[in-house]
Amino acid sequence: MFQQLVPLHEDAILGLMAKFRADTSPDKVDLGVGVFRDLSGNTPVLESVRRAEQIVLAAQTTKSYVAPAGRAEFNEAVRELVLGAAHAAVAANRVRVVQAPGGCGALRLGAELIKTARPEAIVHVSDPTWGNHAPLLGNCGLGLGAYPYYDAAAHRLRFASMLETLERATPGDVVLLHACCHNPTGADLDFGQWRTLTELLQRRRLLPFLDLAYQGFAVGLEADVAGLRYLTAALPETLIAVSFSKNLGVYRERLGALISVGESSPQADAIRTHVLQIARGIYSMPPDHPAAVAAQIFADADLRTHWMRELEAMRCRIAEMRSLLATALNERTNSSSFEFLRAQHGMFSQLGCSEAAVARLRERHHIYMLGDSRMNLAGLMPGNVAYVADSIATVMHGRSC
Ligand SMILES: Cc1ncc(COP(=O)(O)O)c(C=O)c1O
Repeated sequence: MFQQLVPLHEDAILGLMAKFRADTSPDKVDLGVGVFRDLSGNTPVLESVRRAEQIVLAAQTTKSYVAPAGRAEFNEAVRELVLGAAHAAVAANRVRVVQAPGGCGALRLGAELIKTARPEAIVHVSDPTWGNHAPLLGNCGLGLGAYPYYDAAAHRLRFASMLETLERATPGDVVLLHACCHNPTGADLDFGQWRTLTELLQRRRLLPFLDLAYQGFAVGLEADVAGLRYLTAALPETLIAVSFSKNLGVYRERLGALISVGESSPQADAIRTHVLQIARGIYSMPPDHPAAVAAQIFADADLRTHWMRELEAMRCRIAEMRSLLATALNERTNSSSFEFLRAQHGMFSQLGCSEAAVARLRERHHIYMLGDSRMNLAGLMPGNVAYVADSIATVMHGRSC
């Protein structure tokens, strides 16, 4: 059976992690892996999560199965967190939520649902987009397309080209959108652009599939979903893949959800039956522990407040690193070329340099980032910003230091 299989190339991010571990330089800086890091370089277990875990474990009486939809109180809380209690689609009972194993699980559930409903649909993803979108959405057999999104050299959105390309998509196609903190660019649509896009999707009868992996990492829990809420209120159908890996810091526990919005309440019920059948056929049921912990946090006023403070601290730490690096690079290049770092959102930005420059940063300066120059700003510390800025200025602008 397997004799003809040859080893595949190493995954780019895993390969970069191995190189970083093997690097013995005391100056080395990891801006590659996409996880939040605190000032000690750790990816911490949040205190609110720790406290909720203790409550959950103390109250647990069984580990029997829950259900393919996961935990009901978690799903209800997700609906409220993402859409808000007063949302028009919620009021019309057109929203269904199914817990999923991480944002990846939710993206795959959504892709399989689209494949079931309309196998010929093309999913249009942003250029560039997160590296796992293509396998998650395409491996079930759906065709993929790309729309222009960001000019890395000029550090700006290509919104007009995006609209132009999507105008030509076939009605019934799908448009994958990052709800906030676009990965890898950090460049988000403003509210006016969400409105323009909504009008296009409506007119061209395109289905929005929103990837919400960083709610609370850009501006705040509510502000980060303003565009998503507007779009979901205006369109008959929407899919939203939610991840709690980052904002609850529960990466390895695998917590996410697929929100589906149908044209009517019976239609929403029908969609849900298909999502559940798909889940049953892939992994049967999602892990309960992280959902129980999240539900505890969302329901308990003290824990929720504590979590929101911890989330704000993560958000501010990233914003501070963005600001320090922007200032340091502007100073070293005697320009305002790096102002974009301050204006963008979330953990990632693209430096906008060549792969050769990325390799030089790694080999000569021990600074690790992805080949497309995506940096994780949460990998920076106040103590290494000057070193990183010197190194980038040297490599990109030939400044000697
Ligand atoms: C844009 C985006 N979507 C989805 C995910 C899914 O995350 P997870 O499956 O770990 O919840 C990630 C994680 O890095 C991401 O960056």
